[in-house]
Amino acid sequence: MASDESDGRDPLFRYDDPIFADERLLEITHLPGPDRIVGRDDQMLRVADALNPAIFGSKPSHLFIFGKTGTGKSLISRSITQRVITEAERDDINVKYAFIDCGEQNTEASIVKTVAQVVNEPERSGVTVPDRGLGTGDYYKRLWDVIDRCTDVTIVILDEIDMLEDDEVLRKLSRAGENRRISDSSIGIVGISNKIDFPDNLSERVKSSLSRDELVFPPYDANQLIDILNKRRDAFHEEVITDEVIPLTAALAAQEHGDARKAIDILRNAGRLAKKRNDARVTEEHVRAAKEKTEADRFSELIEGSPQQAKAILYALTLLTENSTEDEFPTKIIYSQYKQITGRLELDILSERRVQEILQEQNFLNVIQSEREGRGRGRGAHAKHRLLEDPEIVKKVLLRDSRLSMEE
Ligand SMILES: Nc1ncnc2c1ncn2[C@@H]1O[C@H](COP(=O)(O)OP(=O)(O)OP(=O)(O)O)[C@@H](O)[C@H]1O
Ligand SMILES: [Mg+2]
Repeated sequence: MASDESDGRDPLFRYDDPIFADERLLEITHLPGPDRIVGRDDQMLRVADALNPAIFGSKPSHLFIFGKTGTGKSLISRSITQRVITEAERDDINVKYAFIDCGEQNTEASIVKTVAQVVNEPERSGVTVPDRGLGTGDYYKRLWDVIDRCTDVTIVILDEIDMLEDDEVLRKLSRAGENRRISDSSIGIVGISNKIDFPDNLSERVKSSLSRDELVFPPYDANQLIDILNKRRDAFHEEVITDEVIPLTAALAAQEHGDARKAIDILRNAGRLAKKRNDARVTEEHVRAAKEKTEADRFSELIEGSPQQAKAILYALTLLTENSTEDEFPTKIIYSQYKQITGRLELDILSERRVQEILQEQNFLNVIQSEREGRGRGRGAHAKHRLLEDPEIVKKVLLRDSRLSMEE
């Protein structure tokens, strides 16, 4: 069926986007250039300082970065590492990096394999790194060969490092030079986490062998979020976003803690919503609706990805919230509800202390809010905990887990 205006294109599809000029600028995987990065000058300097020796082919300092979600940890690590690589190239120094998401790859073997695969140039190393079939020890051997032959410096970024199943890989990577596993090259580790107390969980062996710098990324304030969003304004066609959109998005994203991920997600979702509704401009109303959607999505993602035990604890709190006029519950009460659930689900029963710790983690992740009687936010056995989302929504997400759904 030919139409007179179709200029040869399939009329079934749309070829212009009335809202976005380049939506990719708002995708979470997009790496903005240095001119679009705002408000992290100190942190960038500190990261640059740790990695600086790599430019001359020397060993960088290992570095741990902490901070809440959306504070730019992944972005700044990636961005500075790329700048290091570019600078090093001028002097023919070969720096390479592997970015590992430990949420996806958390075993020693898979990390060693991935780093080797990313860094390897088979024609230089004479080594292949097969996807499967080698033991951990053999993958290490290949990794050392690959690193020695293909790089002067290798930077290993371990994002969400608290998800590592076994920290032995940290010890081996950090000791590789000393132990003469590699001789012509060196390794720098950048570990990223939103758990500030993560180093406490490292084994003594690792703690003592891994000397490192540590750096905390604070949340953004509303003005910094406005700047960040303004630098991505060209994701939209001119005049499409109304004046109130960016300040409102920034204010909403700064409510819990200044989270750039949330700000960018809200802005993108607001644009998508306007498009879906065939509205010509993005307005305050789209932003408010987008905030709701962004929060529900994020919350689902957070709890869906949680370990079984954390889900059982959240489920206990959800049931309590549903069946009571109160909305805050002391650890003790949550613990006894939790014990009933684990009994029915045939899960191991954790100690009250461990349950308290998991509640604390969920507090940090903004799933729940924990307060100590009279003394503000706090740890300890006397804390009270409150669910930060509608129990209906939480239940819906939790019940997607097959074990918990048998509960109902
Ligand atoms: N200073 C900044 N300037 C411009 N964009 C930023 C800045 N900080 C963060 N962003 C953007 O916000 C989003 C989230 O940043 P990033 O992924 O680095 O956060 P994070 O601290 O690693 O969070 P998480 O702990 O959830 O992984 C990304 O899209 C990133 O491009
Ligand atoms: Mg990150």
